[in-house]
Amino acid sequence: MVPAAAPLPSVLPVLALGATPVLVDNLPGRLGIDPDDLAAKLTARTVAVMSVPLWGYPADVHQITPLLDHLGLPLVEDAAQAHGTLIAGRPAGTLGLVGCFSTHDRKLLATGEGGFIATVDPRVYEAVECFSRLGHLDGSHIGMNLKLAAPLAAIGSRRIGGLGDQLRVRANNAQRILTVLGDDDPISELGYGGGGRPNYYSLVLRAGAAVAAELAETLTSWGLPPDSRRWNYRPLHTRRMFSRWSSPCPNAERLAACTLQLPVHPGLDRTQVGYVARCLRAALDHVRTAP
Ligand SMILES: Cc1ncc(COP(=O)(O)O)c(C=O)c1O
Repeated sequence: MVPAAAPLPSVLPVLALGATPVLVDNLPGRLGIDPDDLAAKLTARTVAVMSVPLWGYPADVHQITPLLDHLGLPLVEDAAQAHGTLIAGRPAGTLGLVGCFSTHDRKLLATGEGGFIATVDPRVYEAVECFSRLGHLDGSHIGMNLKLAAPLAAIGSRRIGGLGDQLRVRANNAQRILTVLGDDDPISELGYGGGGRPNYYSLVLRAGAAVAAELAETLTSWGLPPDSRRWNYRPLHTRRMFSRWSSPCPNAERLAACTLQLPVHPGLDRTQVGYVARCLRAALDHVRTAP
């Protein structure tokens, strides 16, 4: 089961293994999975539930853990964008049986391409190790060649030490941009539960759909396209390739229509962060004064 807001890559391995994805809605205005929708869509064939802390924002799971515990279903976190994110005080990717991280160039821990899996279960460790190494070539297990090349792993290991600094810079940049928002502006940061801390993969703002659409257009024209424009982010159930498994996910559609992402990465210098902040302020003023 995958939340409907997950971007495409998360579910490709699921499909490749011949499993059937069931797309579950998120909670209104949040990334966490809607427990009622999950309960309604569980079947006897459900083997795992996947949560996605997208943009490095906490995807709370405490609402669904009683159900998962009751049914003995494992949680898999697609923490590809969530290195250093805290969810209810715990690092994203460590809340369930498996946490999946990407180390693609745009991620907080970058090796160019690649990724890693976190688990404390030795059986999962063995299975992942075997699958990613051609099934150990003994003819008894299926596997692929998904190893992270040693030089890339060395780069990743070296960069782990800089993760704390990166989290601080991203949070400072986000705070600088957020200071331009006033109490009566029709926009605020995407909400998350107590004990949560985004890693600020992106700064995510949330407004009403009409305001968000107008802001998206203005910001795009100033070189700051939100992910819906830049990467064509859409809820999965609206994609043609998922149409046969599509079921209503109105909260995911609303969230996709109401969120905007702004860059806050450490590659931005002070002037550039100031530019982003000024653009956001000017776009909001433009929306207010538009007839
Ligand atoms: C949420 C999410 N899941 C999965 C992936 C896939 O990661 P990778 O490109 O390392 O395979 C990405 C990559 O951008 C992602 O953002």
